[in-house]
Amino acid sequence: MEQVTWGWCRLHASLILAGTFTCVDKDEDRVSGLKDGHIPIYEPGLDDLVERNVSAGRMRFTTSIAEPAEAANIAFLAVGTPIRRGDGYADLSYVYSALEEAAPHLSQDVVVSTKSTVPVGTSREIERRLRELRPDLNFAVCSNPEFLREGSAVRDFTHPDRVLVGVDSDLGREVMRRLYEPLALRNAPIVFTTRESAELSKYAANAFLAMKITFINEIADLCEVVGADVNEVASAIGSDGRIGPKFLHPGPGYGGSCFPKDVSALIRTAREARSPLTLIEQVEKVNTERKIAMAQRIEEAAGGSVRDKTIAILGVTFKPDTDDMREAPSLVILPMLQSRGATIRACDPQGRENGGELLSNVAWFADASEAAEGADVLVVLTEWNEFRAVDLAQIRRLMRGDVLVDLRNVYRSAVAEAAGFSYWGIGRGDSAPARTMRSLYQRAALHKSGLQADA
Ligand code: UGA
Repeated sequence: MEQVTWGWCRLHASLILAGTFTCVDKDEDRVSGLKDGHIPIYEPGLDDLVERNVSAGRMRFTTSIAEPAEAANIAFLAVGTPIRRGDGYADLSYVYSALEEAAPHLSQDVVVSTKSTVPVGTSREIERRLRELRPDLNFAVCSNPEFLREGSAVRDFTHPDRVLVGVDSDLGREVMRRLYEPLALRNAPIVFTTRESAELSKYAANAFLAMKITFINEIADLCEVVGADVNEVASAIGSDGRIGPKFLHPGPGYGGSCFPKDVSALIRTAREARSPLTLIEQVEKVNTERKIAMAQRIEEAAGGSVRDKTIAILGVTFKPDTDDMREAPSLVILPMLQSRGATIRACDPQGRENGGELLSNVAWFADASEAAEGADVLVVLTEWNEFRAVDLAQIRRLMRGDVLVDLRNVYRSAVAEAAGFSYWGIGRGDSAPARTMRSLYQRAALHKSGLQADA
């Protein structure tokens, strides 16, 4: 089976299932780099996968659409759908221009499938446009959203919870069934739905996960005030099969190229359909505010002000095992600390290059020890494995101050405190912020009961 995709992304390299696969991208530098074996993003396992398939003649890269489009049985639209400036909707201009460029070259019985995350109704619109452009063509349009996470995209692809295919024709169903046969043989569920259901499911899944994270983040705040431990609460509720343990790790707020964009686009779709998702609107608001609250937490940990303080930041990417900085909490937190007078020293195993372009006046270092030298406060922003393995006592000795703000709960508070740190975790009933919050809460409660007694 011959496949072609427009737009390079980590996800589509793993689509090599059967037959051959041509990746078309307009960016000449990117394509010539890929031809030379240079993968433009950091994604564990992707370089091996590409190398293996290129050497076996199953995968190739080009900037020219005509010939691969003509040969294709399946054409994937895999271009970006960023948030449109000003209104929060998904910008579909790249999807439609890829379609227009491909249309004149497509051959009979081709299946055009979206991989890009697109709002409900887009498959129908693609079909309408393609019919107008090529009235002579027999084709099917499918929706085939992906559920891969950055950092584990290759494994997520080979071991999916499900493969979702939205179809409305026998041609689409048959071609997609054949494509995913190798995964079906490994017992991966291949789920066929209507195209609208597939399109909406992608957004609903991301919005649900964003909601789950936001929920545990708020529970973490509550834990601090009432003296509970969020790790214990997450594990207690997560062992209920109806809730599940995944995506219950509190942190500085979700980021990345998907959740913020998809939550925003889903909110717009729902408002337009006059069926607003008030719960998801609140999730978006709480998550935005959380990133600011995390900067304030660092300030509080630093003694109420970061003016003239040096802060060492471990990790700037939105999650580990990626070099992606899109919507990373660091992009809100670092500039806020700088605006309040802090000097920032940072390190990140893969994020230095992209981080360097987006964050100004940051001094970059090779690892945690170098970044920590002379710092007043140490902050863990991204839970890279490298940071779990550090010698905390040695890092403490390199620092001027003794404050450790662990926004990913990477360390145990007892271990950090034994290493000489004043430890500020997230939602840890026994850590410094929890004790501070609790005493504030108790004072407020006493004050309230005093007022009530007076009244
Ligand atoms: C997400 C989804 O998990 C994928 O299923 C989906 O295919 C992808 O978006 C997409 O739409 O393409 P991704 O953005 O790569 O994947 O990363 P996640 O692992 O979902 O993490 C997203 C954000 O949530 C990160 O900032 C992460 O730190 C945060 N997070 C995640 C938490 O704060 N707590 C958790 O328990 C999990």
